Amino acid sequence: MLKNFLNGLELDQKGALKLLNLAQKIKANPADFSQALAGKSVVTLFEKPSLRTRLSFDIGINKLGGHAVYLDSQNGAMGARESVKDFALNISAWADGIVARVYAHKTLTTLAEYSSVPVVNSLCDLYHPCQALADFLTLQEVHGDVSKLKLAYLGEGNNVTHSLMLLAATLGTDFVAVCPKGSSPDSQILKQAEQIAAMNGASVMVSDRIEAAVGANAVYADTWVSMGDKTPLEQVKAKYMPYQLNQALLEKTGAQTVLHCQPAHREFEITSEVMDGPASKIIQQAENRMHAQNALLVTLLNPNFV
Ligand code: CP
Ligand code: NVA
Repeated sequence: MLKNFLNGLELDQKGALKLLNLAQKIKANPADFSQALAGKSVVTLFEKPSLRTRLSFDIGINKLGGHAVYLDSQNGAMGARESVKDFALNISAWADGIVARVYAHKTLTTLAEYSSVPVVNSLCDLYHPCQALADFLTLQEVHGDVSKLKLAYLGEGNNVTHSLMLLAATLGTDFVAVCPKGSSPDSQILKQAEQIAAMNGASVMVSDRIEAAVGANAVYADTWVSMGDKTPLEQVKAKYMPYQLNQALLEKTGAQTVLHCQPAHREFEITSEVMDGPASKIIQQAENRMHAQNALLVTLLNPNFV
């Protein structure tokens, strides 16, 4: 049984496919799930800003008949006013689940260690596993069987890259991260992804050459500077510009689908022409955050319902 969702590796291929199918069911028949979280309260904690995550959890929990309580970092980072352990002990005395967006992955593992209720990672320095679920839900809707696809990520190797890479490996999707030298994904997470991919007949690659993205069915961009990194975007522009997701690059890869987790920096990592163009599935992808997360919450908080 699924207890927490901290790095996404809690789901094997069977579990991930089951969850994506449940998300499609919830999306198609929301009325059937309108009481799936009745009487349940979920605390959503945010150390960093958010639009999509905050709203998709809040509105999503509401659509399942549950109650979401938003807590920002008005009292400073978690662990400043009182320890993360005490946060977990207190919150789980009232709530049925915790969703947390934090700076350090360690904060999540500590929350999970002391919480008696499930903890969900809604972004940390290393992972963004709820995002990856929504991304693969979108790919499944657009292309069908994701094990037949190649997905190319372009830009900085970051939390989003890691979660995409791990879920691609789990689902048997070929994956390439095309990143400039010095901005590659974490080598330990890459190794883990390679091992999982090998078991599922898929490949994981990292390259600094755009040519590695040729033949991809979908291309994916994220910001060149993640939250918490104070580097001005202008300062890294020259380094990342060759990796910009623009019309010429899209045509060169031959990809049919464009994804971006957002927030997007138009004319930096992606052009408006591509973001608003016919291959873009970016708003469908944002909507799918809610459906994928709702499937996850029902699985974690009320497994007997499904
Ligand atoms: N994609 C995503 O997590 O967006 P927010 O930062 O707005 O939540
Ligand atoms: N890599 C980005 C993702 C935002 C959803 C960040 O961490 O800021």
